[in-house]
Amino acid sequence: MDKNETYRMLVKQVESLIEGENNPVGQLANTAALLHDTMDWWWTGFYLILNGELRLGPFQGPVACYSIKRGRGVCGTAWDQDRTIVVPDVELFEGHIACSSLSRSEIVVPLHDSQGNVVGVLDIDSKELATFDEVDAQWLEEIARVISRHVLD
Ligand code: SME
Repeated sequence: MDKNETYRMLVKQVESLIEGENNPVGQLANTAALLHDTMDWWWTGFYLILNGELRLGPFQGPVACYSIKRGRGVCGTAWDQDRTIVVPDVELFEGHIACSSLSRSEIVVPLHDSQGNVVGVLDIDSKELATFDEVDAQWLEEIARVISRHVLD
């Protein structure tokens, strides 16, 4: 299946999986499980801002670091600059935080509340180089908007 088709299907699935629920941990856990199960990714999960830091949220994959400061690593930079960051080769991103030494490329998408404030990030790692591109960025931003509507509002 073409990548756009897969994401089109995923957006619908995420929407029906989380709408009508009132349990953010469960909704984010199921979203991570669905994305991770569908795509061939190494780590798929959420960091949420708590007391001025990104703190580990629901995820699928190997164990990860608990907290990330604003401006640190790919996640803290995506938060600080409020933009999606695509990293084709993590070794070339200065300050990358290696939770797993097997991660080779990464994408981080900010999550917003209804006022537009960044409240966390969706972080995805791959064991292959250059897994993520603009197509992934656009669709994952769409998924982040669905999450904002149904979970973080
Ligand atoms: N690599 C991330 C840290 C989180 S792990 O990838 C799960 C970063 O540099 O922010």
